[in-house]
Amino acid sequence: MMHSMLKARTLRRLAGALLLAAGGLALACGPNEEKKSAQGAAPTAAAENKPAAPALDVAALRSKAKGIFGVLPAEAPNPANPVTPEKVTLGRMLFYEPRITLSRKLSCSSCHGLDTYGVDNQPTSVGHEGQRGERNSPTVYNAALEFAQFWDGRAPDVEAQAKGPVLNPVEMAMPSEPEVVSRLKAIPGYGPLFAAAFPGEADPITFDNAAKAIAAFERKLMTPGPFDDFMNGNDQAMTPEQLAGLQTFVDTGCITSSSRTRRRTSAARR
Ligand code: HEC
Repeated sequence: MMHSMLKARTLRRLAGALLLAAGGLALACGPNEEKKSAQGAAPTAAAENKPAAPALDVAALRSKAKGIFGVLPAEAPNPANPVTPEKVTLGRMLFYEPRITLSRKLSCSSCHGLDTYGVDNQPTSVGHEGQRGERNSPTVYNAALEFAQFWDGRAPDVEAQAKGPVLNPVEMAMPSEPEVVSRLKAIPGYGPLFAAAFPGEADPITFDNAAKAIAAFERKLMTPGPFDDFMNGNDQAMTPEQLAGLQTFVDTGCITSSSRTRRRTSAARR
């Protein structure tokens, strides 16, 4: 059970922290070194005898890193729920829609602010009528790639996950699926949006379709960065210090015992 909670994200975070640490160290030491010699201060023996850093084999590093880390894609596809611009537009509106909460005051964005890294920065989330749940909100960024949703993995994907909070009594607190549908049907603007997102369906405003649209929106909430650019072949994407940090990370064996995690990472990459 513990292991099933270990997420691919953990590994990425670890690497991120290490890269930051490497960058930070360089920042902390580099400028001071320079200042000292600029002022003509005697360089320390350690600095004088410092061996030149061995040249880094970038291609070898990349191929080693590729055996460990996945690369963030631009979107997380799901053949059962293809991402279309129409679905994403609708999903974005529903993500910010307070009228599908009992109080008409909350929305997905209350606990997963996209301007606050996809979380609410609370120890546990505050839902309907100020009630606190028992867990804090994980980020929605890159969540669609996870092999399971929620801290305990009880939903298989973002499509299934999106239905949970709407009906959860301490979150959005809607009493039933039909009640959500009737709220949506009462808002004239949603008719054409659902019809465009689910073409050919006679009665497109359904609870399932609302969840699918939200999920399609989430499938595009990806945050590829310089590390992913590097993994995709751009040698210039990371600073020399970051590359050195990555080299240290993969050489030190931080990940040697994580063949289980590695399998999960590739599962999450699918
Ligand atoms: C009241 C706060 C609150 C609201 C509103 C809320 N969430 Fe969450 N969300 C949470 C919490 C807390 C968890 C973790 C719960 C758990 O693991 O049992 C969570 C988990 C998730 C996850 C799982 C991420 C992962 O990595 O496992 C996703 C995705 C998500 N929410 C999306 C949504 C969407 C979409 C909506 C709107 C339909 C929504 N949330 C509304 C608080 C909230």
